[in-house]
Amino acid sequence: MNATDPFDSDMQTQIEGLKADRDVQALSRIWLRETSPHRYVYNFKWMGRPIIQFPQDMMAMQEIVWATRPDLIIETGVAHGGSVLYYASLLELMGHGEVIGIDIEIRAHNRKAIEEHPMNRRLRLIEGSSIDPNVIAQVQELAKGKRAIVVLDSNHSHDHVLAELRAYAPLVCKGGYCVVMDTVVEDLPASLIAEGRPWSLGNNPKTAVHEFLKESDEFVIDRDLEAKLLITVAPDGYLKRI
Ligand SMILES: C[S@@+](CC[C@H](N)C(=O)[O-])C[C@H]1O[C@@H](n2cnc3c(N)ncnc32)[C@H](O)[C@@H]1O
Repeated sequence: MNATDPFDSDMQTQIEGLKADRDVQALSRIWLRETSPHRYVYNFKWMGRPIIQFPQDMMAMQEIVWATRPDLIIETGVAHGGSVLYYASLLELMGHGEVIGIDIEIRAHNRKAIEEHPMNRRLRLIEGSSIDPNVIAQVQELAKGKRAIVVLDSNHSHDHVLAELRAYAPLVCKGGYCVVMDTVVEDLPASLIAEGRPWSLGNNPKTAVHEFLKESDEFVIDRDLEAKLLITVAPDGYLKRI
C-alpha cells in the first residue's frame, strides 16, 4: 500500500468502511456458513489442477507474492497440487523464485500430474510430515539465505499447526507472511466439520495462531487483508513478520 497513490488511499478508506460495517461482516459469515455444506472450496482448478482454496484468498496471496517478491514459497499441504502450482506460476511470471511443497502423502496420480505440469520447473516436492524433524531440517537447509514466505495448509489440528508455526515461521523474511489457512474452522458451526477430522472447535489453526502470537512478538495479524477480503478461510491467519 502506497499512501501517496490515490487508488491505494481510496482502498484504505474502503477497508476502514468494511471494518466498521457489521452488516456486511454478518452477511459474509452467513455466506461462509451456507456455502460450506456445498463444498464450495472444492469448485476450482488452477491451470488444470484442483486447488482447494477460495478465489479471494488466492487474490490476497498474489498481492503478497508480488509485494514481497520472495525467493522461496514454502507450503505445507499439497493435495492435488493446485495451490503449489499457483504459487509456482506467479513466480514464473515474475521470473524468479521456487516453491517447496510438503505433504505427508503425495498420491501417485497427483505426483504424476504435478511433475508433468509446465509450472513444475519452479516446484520441489517433499513427501513426509511437515513436523518431522528430518523434513524441517531439509527445508531449513533449502531456505538458508533466502527470502521466504510460508503457507500452512496441512493437518488443521491445534498441536500440528502450532508445531508448524514454531518450525516454519522463523524462516519468513521481514515484511513477509506466514499464512495459516482454515482458521475459519473456529468460526463455523461444529456440525460443518467433517467427521473423523483431528480438528474441532477450540482445536484448530485459529487457536494455534493465538497461542503462537503469545510466544512471538515478531508477527502481527494483517487485519486490512481479511477486512477487504470478507470471504476468507484465513481470518486471523494472515500473519505478517514485522
Ligand atoms: C487441505 S489439503 C491441502 C490443499 C492444498 N494446499 C490446496 O490448496 O489445494 C491438506 C493436505 O495436507 C496433507 N497433510 C495432512 N497431514 C499432514 C502432515 N502431517 N504433514 C504434511 N501434510 C499433511 C494431506 O495429505 C492433504 O493433502
